[in-house]
Amino acid sequence: TAGKQKPYMYTQGQAVLNRSFFPCFDTPSVKFTYSATVQVPEGFTAVMSATSWEKQNDNTFVFKMSQPIPSYLIALAVGDIVSADVGPRSRVWAEPCLIEAAKKEYDGVIEEFLVVGEKLFGPYVWGRYDILFMPPSFPFGGMENPCLTFVTPCLLAGDRSLADVIIHEISHSWFGNLVTNATWGEFWLNEGFTMYAQRRISTEVYGLAYTCLEAATGRALLRQHMDNTGEDHPLNKLRVVIEPGFSFFLGVNPDDTYNETPYEKGYCFVSYLAHLVGDQSKFDAFLQAYVNRFKFQSITADDTLGFFLEYFPDLKEKGVDSIPGFEFDRWLNTPGWPPYLPDLSPGEQLMKPADELAELWAADSLNMEATEAVDITAWRTYQLVYFLDQILQKSPLPEGNVERLSKMYPKISKAQNAELRLRWCQIILKNNLEAEYSKVKDFLHSQGKQKYTLPLYRAMWGGSESARALAMETFSATAPQLHVNVQNYVKKILGLEVVN
Ligand code: BES
Ligand code: ZN
Repeated sequence: TAGKQKPYMYTQGQAVLNRSFFPCFDTPSVKFTYSATVQVPEGFTAVMSATSWEKQNDNTFVFKMSQPIPSYLIALAVGDIVSADVGPRSRVWAEPCLIEAAKKEYDGVIEEFLVVGEKLFGPYVWGRYDILFMPPSFPFGGMENPCLTFVTPCLLAGDRSLADVIIHEISHSWFGNLVTNATWGEFWLNEGFTMYAQRRISTEVYGLAYTCLEAATGRALLRQHMDNTGEDHPLNKLRVVIEPGFSFFLGVNPDDTYNETPYEKGYCFVSYLAHLVGDQSKFDAFLQAYVNRFKFQSITADDTLGFFLEYFPDLKEKGVDSIPGFEFDRWLNTPGWPPYLPDLSPGEQLMKPADELAELWAADSLNMEATEAVDITAWRTYQLVYFLDQILQKSPLPEGNVERLSKMYPKISKAQNAELRLRWCQIILKNNLEAEYSKVKDFLHSQGKQKYTLPLYRAMWGGSESARALAMETFSATAPQLHVNVQNYVKKILGLEVVN
């Protein structure tokens, strides 16, 4: 926990972990309502992903979810937690030591996201939208448990700069939680549509330039992922084959198929569908009709694309599903870089200065005058993130440059913001800057998000002897505080034995 005093218990259902929590048809293709009675020790509070709850005598909490949901969306947490209102239908829950920061981060902003979401995608059917801050070891940025999103405390940046995660989880209220992928092999239906919805809401709230900048950092993650795995890797298609287990064969764990492709290639495919339509308001109307058509159901990509062609008969007539190179079938079943990329040039005004500055730092002879002339003090977090991704791509930098960069921008090298810390640690490792190894160690001790933890262990293990030693030392100190999935993935990276 953050407070390091009392215990904190939570469940994480997605993808197939809730079968160890209660007996169920643990597949996203089956939906049901539920109720639960939970008794906790004195001094603790229980919360669940439920539409209503009531505290009875004897520390007993009674929950009811009145809308049908798939098993993976049932979630329970018990801890020394308190709450504070941040909007007319929203409150934050957190350990007492975090509640002030949590309230400050989101007071008055959640409602706007919900209202914009409703305007774009139709009614918000879940009643409340609350946020629960998890212990620092929580393996995800956010988890869209209905009525109660679970989030990492890393979001508490103090400046609302990481609100895109909240917008993302809110977007699942329509895409994922109302219209659900029937199988984990089509996870992109949840995440690709959600990325699209997230960026639609973001565009309405923050404008197109900022949203394109954020999308460009997403594209960089997809690039990194495909470079690491090879474009042709079978997981780099939208529809993946997840072999079921039978007899004593274990089959494939859907969690093991988790990567950037369903998110960012999925986003590109939905953007491609919007591009085919050619008119944003018509495509928004389609999304709303789609949610309305399939709400409370679990569907396949064939249902989605069939409905798309039905909704736009002129496009069906034109045969848009089989344009050479852009066939729907190719999007779904062929691995590789997306055949269509949405235009992110509206973000250029924010990206160009970062691109240019990265060029300067990567040049063989450092032009200090030109570098010092660039003032980054007013840059937003995602502009810095974008800049650091460029630096990382160009790393290792010429001898001495990373040290200079570190001194020149304490805003980056001493950042408390988790997205900046991740990039800075990656740069430290790629440039083998041993003097700053302690920052990698501190970051990995402070939180256990999978998307931060695994890239750093991969970088350490692929680095120098001293980097490998850092990996081993850090893992043996932090393993007990990591989620079991994350522990096992790190073990795999470090070549340690994984016990099934
Ligand atoms: N539903 C996912 C988290 C998840 C995926 C849990 C697969 C278990 C298995 C959640 O909505 C998500 O995508 N979170 C992202 C947010 C980001 C894309 C803004 C995360 O945690 O990084
Ligand atoms: Zn998601």
